[in-house]
Amino acid sequence: MSNIVSPSILSADFANLERDIRRVEDAGAQWLHIDVMDGHFVPNITIGVPVVASIREITKLCLDVHLMIENPERYVESFAKAGADILTFHYEATDDAGELIRLIKSHNIKAGMSIKPKTPVDVVFPYLKDLDLLLVMTVEPGFGGQKFMADCAQKISKIKENASSDLIIQVDGGINAETARICTSLGANSLVAGNYIYKSDDIKSAVKSLLFQT
Ligand code: DX5
Ligand code: ZN
Repeated sequence: MSNIVSPSILSADFANLERDIRRVEDAGAQWLHIDVMDGHFVPNITIGVPVVASIREITKLCLDVHLMIENPERYVESFAKAGADILTFHYEATDDAGELIRLIKSHNIKAGMSIKPKTPVDVVFPYLKDLDLLLVMTVEPGFGGQKFMADCAQKISKIKENASSDLIIQVDGGINAETARICTSLGANSLVAGNYIYKSDDIKSAVKSLLFQT
């Protein structure tokens, strides 16, 4: 079975976003990873609700929205209405992860939760049964093109041990064919990649190298 590949448009050309979305569609990616940053939770500012709504108009890819924002609960409804299929919030950005998961699911979309590199893995265990997706960050969130942190990947096997088989385990940050292999061997089945895909001379091969990797 192939992995779920979620190209991060943070590394795309925003002046040619539709073209760059078509390129990963044609390459066989199943999802599109959209990094929402607010300049508070992380030091960078990127994409907001209107851009997600515009992307929804032009693609049927599953929109995998990664919220790197404070007060994520305030924006769940807007992103759901804009057409997000998955909303992933950060554990560190909320005091009530359980309630946030319920809120996201009440919009009939998938709920994901993410942990930053310094957050210990055991904080996620109480929520695994309610989550559709758990995102293990393998870089400090905020920017594309950073180096993969191998010790973060070790969290994957602990999650795998404690989760049901239908939990999607995603990794994000510094993913390429080589680091993806480390993550999939530990149990990850969804791979986010920005620079590796979009800065490649051959987007099709880059996506394929992630799709068929165990
Ligand atoms: C970083 C973002 C990532 C980023 C990954 O905070 O969450 O999704 O786009 O970029 P690469 O794959 O280049 O590390
Ligand atoms: Zn991301």
